[in-house]
Amino acid sequence: MLERRESGRLPEAPHTQLTAENGRVLYEHCLTRQGFEGPYTIAYHQERPHEAQPSSHAPVELPPADRKPERLLRRHYITPSSPLTLEPFPRHRGRVLENADVAISLAMPTRSDPFYFANADGDELYYVHAGSGTLRTQLGDVRYRAGDYVYVPRSLLHRFVLDEPLQHWLVLELRQPLGLPEGYRNRVGQLRMDAPYGHRDFRGPVLEAPRDENLRDFWVKTDGTLQKFELPRSPLDVVGWDGTLYPFALSVDALRPKVGKVHLPPPAHATFEAPGVLICTFVPRPLDFHERAVPCPYPHSSVDVDEVIFYSRGNFTSRRGVGPGSISHHPRGIPHGPHPGAYEGSIGAKQTDEVAVMLDCALPLTRSAFAESLEDPRYHGSFVASAGSHSTG
Ligand SMILES: [Fe+2]
Repeated sequence: MLERRESGRLPEAPHTQLTAENGRVLYEHCLTRQGFEGPYTIAYHQERPHEAQPSSHAPVELPPADRKPERLLRRHYITPSSPLTLEPFPRHRGRVLENADVAISLAMPTRSDPFYFANADGDELYYVHAGSGTLRTQLGDVRYRAGDYVYVPRSLLHRFVLDEPLQHWLVLELRQPLGLPEGYRNRVGQLRMDAPYGHRDFRGPVLEAPRDENLRDFWVKTDGTLQKFELPRSPLDVVGWDGTLYPFALSVDALRPKVGKVHLPPPAHATFEAPGVLICTFVPRPLDFHERAVPCPYPHSSVDVDEVIFYSRGNFTSRRGVGPGSISHHPRGIPHGPHPGAYEGSIGAKQTDEVAVMLDCALPLTRSAFAESLEDPRYHGSFVASAGSHSTG
């Protein structure tokens, strides 16, 4: 999805011999999208990369999102107060909202993955609200820290190695390929100077010498199940790769936000997109400079999207009662806007210090039982001007 990169040893042309020092031929491994029509990466392994055997462990079925008639309400999910220990998912994720395009989950892992994992159900985009560590993949390591987006291409073998057990991530599973918004590139594919980021802001994987971490368990998520395999040897034996499919990290602190004379709509802050999902990032910036500007977002009816915001840092001027780690869900069908007092109160403000991730989702989102357990039941009513301390505090 970004520019082509290469790392390590490569033969002169694809599908030709690359040999080890002893003359043995190394094994090519192509990761391809859209059959063979889309982006691809070619990696070169020391050993045959396709010898994983099914484990005796039965496939694990992940719980589906509950589907039942729901009241049409603006909703607020409060961040869990303690790390998630949700089973059977071995990575301690809790799905909150889901549609056919995207699954939105929270993860608060407390330990490094003691296995390798690949998600065959979609690309993964993490927003690291808290924590730091290393995403270890077959194409190399990507260091991450709080405030980073971390991208893992569909089906890439990887695991997370945590620096510390205090981690808090928003996890997006995109069922169709994640990419950069249209219009951010020039005719030759280079990022334009007015894009909110440049090529140098994307931190790709660093490939070092092949290594063996003595881990042989390998879980694959596919079609809502987890399937366990046993690897005959270390899968971290790639000596080189070349392509456009690779993991990366992008810090929200590197974003160069647009500033308007009057309030700019969320797509001005678009960061990524996938079919059915637009992902925007709100970062600290000067506010609107029209002499009569109302900087706060206006009430609006986005009649064909469900809007989700994950609040990460700063002072969220338009929302009362939300805090770092909160998730709001404003469904289509009813208008939403600022809390009482926030609209008028924003007049004259010069700067915002908030960091938040916003999703516009084309299909209605269904919430999980886990989401219900996190819900702040006062949220919808808090938009009424007379609704008491929750709406005015
Ligand atoms: Fe909105």
